[in-house]
Order: sequence, then C-alpha cells, then structure tokens
Amino acid sequence: MAVVNFSNTILPAVTGYDISGEVVAVGKAIKDLKVGDEAFGFLSMNSSGGGGAFQQYSVADADRIVKKPQGLSHTDASTLGIGFLSAMDGLRQVKINSSTSIFVPGGSGGVGHFIIQVARILGAGQIITSASKEEGINILKELYKIKDVINHATENVVDRVLELTGGQGADIVFDTTYLESSYAKSTLTVKRGGSWLILNRRILDKDSQAMKNVEQRGANLIQADVSRYTLGPEKAQVKSFFQESLVQGAKWVEEGKLKPYVNKIIKLEEVESALEQLTQGKAGFGKVVAEISPN
Ligand SMILES: NC(=O)c1ccc[n+]([C@@H]2O[C@H](COP(=O)([O-])OP(=O)(O)OC[C@H]3O[C@@H](n4cnc5c(N)ncnc54)[C@H](OP(=O)(O)O)[C@@H]3O)[C@@H](O)[C@H]2O)c1
Repeated sequence: MAVVNFSNTILPAVTGYDISGEVVAVGKAIKDLKVGDEAFGFLSMNSSGGGGAFQQYSVADADRIVKKPQGLSHTDASTLGIGFLSAMDGLRQVKINSSTSIFVPGGSGGVGHFIIQVARILGAGQIITSASKEEGINILKELYKIKDVINHATENVVDRVLELTGGQGADIVFDTTYLESSYAKSTLTVKRGGSWLILNRRILDKDSQAMKNVEQRGANLIQADVSRYTLGPEKAQVKSFFQESLVQGAKWVEEGKLKPYVNKIIKLEEVESALEQLTQGKAGFGKVVAEISPN
C-alpha cells in the first residue's frame, strides 16, 4: 500500500495502485491477456477511470500488467507495485558494481526493503541502512543479512555512515522517507560527486538545508518517480518500464533472490484502518496486503 496522492486524483475515488488477481474481461485490442489469466501489476495513477485496487473489480491499463507466473503467489505479486517499481526506477539511473556503497535510510519500509534487496542483486559491494524499531532492525540483520543497520532514533546517522565508508560517504544514498529531517542528514552522507536519490521533489524546497548540502557535495540529485511514465514526459516508456520491471521482479522472487516482506494480510473492510496506521508509521516492517474475495 502506498498512500500519497501522487497523481492528485480527484476525490472521492477508489485508491490503491498495486494489484494481483484474475482477468475477468479484456478490451478488444488486448492480445497479451485473456479472460481467466492470472495477472499482476500497477493500476492507472488516476483511479477515477475505474481503477483503484481497494475494490472487488478494478480496471487496469494493459501496458502496466503482466501474466503472473505460477511460482509467484498473488500475495507476493501484489507487493511488486509502486514500492518495488520506485526502487527499480531509482536504481536503473545509477551505476552499481562490487565497489559501490549505498545507504538506504528506512530499509524497514515498503520501498526501502526493496531497495536494499535490488541493490544487492545488482551487485552493490556495501549496503548500509537504518531503522528504529527493534523488530525491523532484527529483520534487516537476520532475514536480509544487512550487517550495517543504524538505529536512526538513537545513533548519529551521519557519523555512522561516514565511519562505515572510511570518512567519504556512500556512493549512492536513496532516501525514501519523505522527511525533511531525514533529507537534511542523508544529504551529508553522500560521497562528494555521488548520487542522492529521492522518490520525488514534491517536499524538497530549493532553499532547504538538504538542497544546500547537495550543492556543496556536488551530488547528483535523482528522482525515482514512476508517475513520470504514466502522467509525465516519459509516457512512451510506460510499457517497457512497467512490464520489464514486473517480469524481472517476478523472476527474482521465483529464484529466491527477492523476498517481499508481507507484514499483514487484511480484509477489504480493514483497509481504512491499515492506511491510518501506515500514515502514523505503525504499520510495521515491509508491506500490508489486502485480500479481496470475488463475492
Ligand atoms: N513516489 C513514489 O513513487 C512512492 C512510491 C512508494 C511510496 N511512496 C511514499 O514514500 C514514503 C515511504 O513509503 P513506504 O511505503 O516505504 O513507507 P513505510 O513502509 O511507512 O516506511 C517508512 C520508513 O521510514 C523509516 N523512517 C521513519 N522515520 C525516519 C527517520 N527520521 N529517518 C530515517 N528513516 C525513518 C521507517 O523506519 P522505522 O519505522 O524503523 O523507524 C520506515 O522504514 C511514503 O510517504 C509513501 O507514500 C512514494
């Protein structure tokens, strides 16, 4: 679940972007999918057209949907939406190899836990992350085998990242927290000339401390913003970006390289309170999945 109204959808509308289920009808021009197929992907960012995942039947644009392989559960498939796609969009814009260090504030989040895993799959040599809750820190260390997990509530994040990177800072810092307080710190952890990635610039003030730090460090500011493929200038790439990323994500899950963390599976009527918990930072590690029966 992701709750920011990225597309400025006019309310009331049914929300929710990420989906996995059975195809019950297709448009005449659709060749790749047929009724009865199991499919997953990402709904239109303007759900007033009948999209919106939090309902029994949703209308999807076919260029953002792919067939679900048998080895991938609907639960896991439904997590490979906006959070995973945002991780893919950010990491495809930077070079990663075995000498690359990356710092991901909030690796316990729905987006963050995908970034640390994709960075590892792409071969990053050093992955540093942060979280504050004991459960999240343990999951990052034990399940995802991240050695360097900083407690952002009790430790000095900037000092710790500099210490872990020989005083230089990380080559890549991918901050998905949407928090100015985190941005002001994470920009100080980027290596001179390195890359600072955020989800989008909406809360980034040009006069902010974060922007001053980016300029001082000569860092590249990169946005991972999937809305540019659906609503913005890169519409031509919509099919290739979404479908290639979804197919790749499914393959990684089937191969056991990517492990979406599903914290809770809830019913449709529990969505509102789950979204409330999410906005209060109380949803727990990783993703929450709503299971919706056909009747
Ligand atoms: N533009 C996009 O494409 C896009 C895509 C997906 C999501 N989003 C948005 O991006 C944000 C993050 O999404 P999410 O699903 O990952 O949220 P989430 O699951 O709630 O995760 C937030 C993470 O931030 C960490 N955090 C909280 N305070 C922090 C601080 N002061 N410093 C460092 N880390 C801190 C939390 O760690 P602890 O709980 O362990 O402290 C948690 O890991 C949301 O606002 C979401 O709506 C945007």
